[in-house]
Amino acid sequence: MRVTVIGTGYVGTVTGACLSYLGHRVTCVDIDPSKVARLRRGESPIYEPHLEEMLQLAARRGGIDFSTELAEAAAESEVIFIAVGTPPLPGGEANLTQIETAARSIGAAMDGSRYRVVVNKSTVPVGCGNLVETLIREGIGDALRTDRRDIRFGVASNPEFLREGCAVADSLYPDRIVLGAADENTLQVMRELYQPLVAQRFAPPPGVPRPPSLREVKLLATTLTSAEMIKYAANAFLAMKIGFANEIANICERVGAEATEVMTGIGLDSRIGAKFLNPGVGWGGSCFAKDVHALLHTAREYGYESKLLQASLDVNAAQRQMVIQKLQEKLYILKGRTIGLLGLAFKPDTDDMRDAPSLHIAERLLQMDARVKAYDPIAMPNCRQQRPDLRIRYCDSPLEAARDSDALVVVTEWQQFRSLDLEELAKEMATPILVDGRNLFLPAAAAAAGFDYTGIGRCPRPRGAASRPIRPEAGAAAPLPLIL
Ligand SMILES: NC(=O)c1ccc[n+]([C@@H]2O[C@H](COP(=O)([O-])OP(=O)(O)OC[C@H]3O[C@@H](n4cnc5c(N)ncnc54)[C@H](O)[C@@H]3O)[C@@H](O)[C@H]2O)c1
Repeated sequence: MRVTVIGTGYVGTVTGACLSYLGHRVTCVDIDPSKVARLRRGESPIYEPHLEEMLQLAARRGGIDFSTELAEAAAESEVIFIAVGTPPLPGGEANLTQIETAARSIGAAMDGSRYRVVVNKSTVPVGCGNLVETLIREGIGDALRTDRRDIRFGVASNPEFLREGCAVADSLYPDRIVLGAADENTLQVMRELYQPLVAQRFAPPPGVPRPPSLREVKLLATTLTSAEMIKYAANAFLAMKIGFANEIANICERVGAEATEVMTGIGLDSRIGAKFLNPGVGWGGSCFAKDVHALLHTAREYGYESKLLQASLDVNAAQRQMVIQKLQEKLYILKGRTIGLLGLAFKPDTDDMRDAPSLHIAERLLQMDARVKAYDPIAMPNCRQQRPDLRIRYCDSPLEAARDSDALVVVTEWQQFRSLDLEELAKEMATPILVDGRNLFLPAAAAAAGFDYTGIGRCPRPRGAASRPIRPEAGAAAPLPLIL
């Protein structure tokens, strides 16, 4: 099928590359000429594993091209995806300016030559399907087309659930495809588009193997409004699940339980599931905060105050502060101290710095007159470009970040950090303090390497010792024995 994807960000580029891989003929459109120029050269505008190879493969097969001009591509396409940004406004609601511009331009480009489906892939508040339809009609009207009565189109909502860092695999092997539409014609076109994905009738691309158990992808057809709600509800739930793990970890620290063991114990319950239960420095990224705020805003518009959604935002904000508290507990004074950050990206395998916890941590430390050094294998150029105000000293290696620092903080769990020589790092430091914000290392191994180690929700006592020492009662002659 002929497909146009509007927006070549994290979602649009991956969607375009994967649809082309499935055999569709795709044009990706963006208003940013520098992105389009890079894509035409076969370069990905973002760091995302396997994406560049997919784009180059698609270009070699002649299944993809890139443009700054929407009109021609949209006129020739049967399916037009809107994958532009929906960043938050100060009040929490989604900024729909990019969507509105895209929808009007689609309307202006349409003619009566075929039936088209316009698909909202951007995360948009409930009611946006209707808004997009109205804007398309206005765009058709503005273009003063003589054939406007013959122009037929449908609007679908097809929320995206990919995770940055494994976006190609998530797009080719999704847990489900959600399609919201008001009419059967629109649904039928979308079913046809996704048929190769649903049936998994394609050879996996190099380096992106199909999960062994995957035979068919579930396709859930819903109303437009339900599809829009599914996306917000999914992100709100995931944010809440991580927040829950962090809350329990904070309690574990106080009672002397090991949070990683507790999470394994609850994650084995099939009703809970093991994923998204890793305690850490809090979630970040472009979606969770934005989407939870937007859902809270929608709820308020309808007169409902969601205490749970608000709590998950509050818990996350407090968790980011936890790193500062741990540094204060170890060093007392942070003024004039040098803190090395390992990792800046909001998660591994991405260069995305949007709402990254590292930014909050660096900001707080700098406000407190500490010095901040940082190393990240991929995200340093983005961080430098997006936050020139942060006086971070960027380092060429983890060792350089550790050198002469008073403490080292693991902020992002990059795979390559797992194999670091901890002894070598500890020797380079002014004081070998390690705040492991992602529970990447075993406390005993870090201690053996010479570190004063603290993780998130981790019990500092060795396995086999009392989970909590029993204090002698007032006046007792001898201390009570430890319970083993
Ligand atoms: N990033 C993710 O992991 C992710 C996952 C699921 C859903 N989403 C949602 O998908 C949407 C896109 O997210 P993203 O991270 O890809 O955004 P992004 O900011 O990386 O990319 C958006 C792109 O759209 C382009 N654009 C804006 N207006 C345009 C127009 N009128 N015509 C053509 N191009 C235009 C911008 O130049 C930019 O390149 C958002 O609503 C987001 O919430 C994102």
